[in-house]
Amino acid sequence: MSAVRCDKITRIYAEGGGVRDFTCDIAKGEFFALLGPSGCGKTTTLRIIAGLERPDSGKLYFEDTDVTDWPPERRNAAMVFQSYALFPHMNVFENVAFGLRAQKEPKATIGPRVHEALELVQLDSLAKRRVTELSGGQQQRVALARALAVQPNIVLLDEPLSNLDAELRYATRKQLAELQDRLGFTAIYVTHDQEEAIELADRVAVLKDGKCHQIGSPSEILDSPATDFVESFLARQRSAT
Ligand SMILES: Nc1ncnc2c1ncn2[C@@H]1O[C@H](COP(=O)(O)OP(=O)(O)O)[C@@H](O)[C@H]1O
Ligand SMILES: [Mg+2]
Repeated sequence: MSAVRCDKITRIYAEGGGVRDFTCDIAKGEFFALLGPSGCGKTTTLRIIAGLERPDSGKLYFEDTDVTDWPPERRNAAMVFQSYALFPHMNVFENVAFGLRAQKEPKATIGPRVHEALELVQLDSLAKRRVTELSGGQQQRVALARALAVQPNIVLLDEPLSNLDAELRYATRKQLAELQDRLGFTAIYVTHDQEEAIELADRVAVLKDGKCHQIGSPSEILDSPATDFVESFLARQRSAT
């Protein structure tokens, strides 16, 4: 049984962009990457899986249940946005507690759950700090803690490291891989960075102009690219390894 199945998911905006006929099966506990250049439809696909966007056609299944029409809060999927989308007027604790309060978690368990999530990202000592007083890397980890606090089955990450400098990006990438391994959630990770996808993912879907060109393990897409586009997009990575 797959954690997430997209069956010919299509969403085309008035201007013509979007995603077309996207089909994939993502296993429980898998780290799955959506890779492709800017504008190829990665965020659109992720937002459809989160329930923030409705497909024009196609079906979405979580563990064989059709969730296409389910609202986001029913899906037990948490999203980490590229911009972090933290609440600037709240401190770290309140930001992480937000999802728990929204799902009406009993008051007595909110505190422990927030601290547990903050410990996962090594930020518990900064719980009372305003998020505007944190570095970019720390803000990114608060956003991750906020997602993890609700103990989601699925974590959706939209270019979560792209606002960090190269060194921090690399370190945070490793931490994320360790966390996913330890906690066992299914991760769907959007990136335009082929190195990131290849390093992190069990399998990668390569997209261009709303179309999926190939789904495969990092070695499959590197060694046997299905199209000229996949080959050229990964060429830089292949020459670097
Ligand atoms: N809300 C929207 N309204 C109109 N066009 C959109 C909207 N969101 C995305 N698009 C268009 O759909 C295409 C895919 O966008 P997106 O999924 O954000 O790509 P990516 O995340 O891969 O950069 C782009 O051409 C983009 O301009
Ligand atoms: Mg995007």
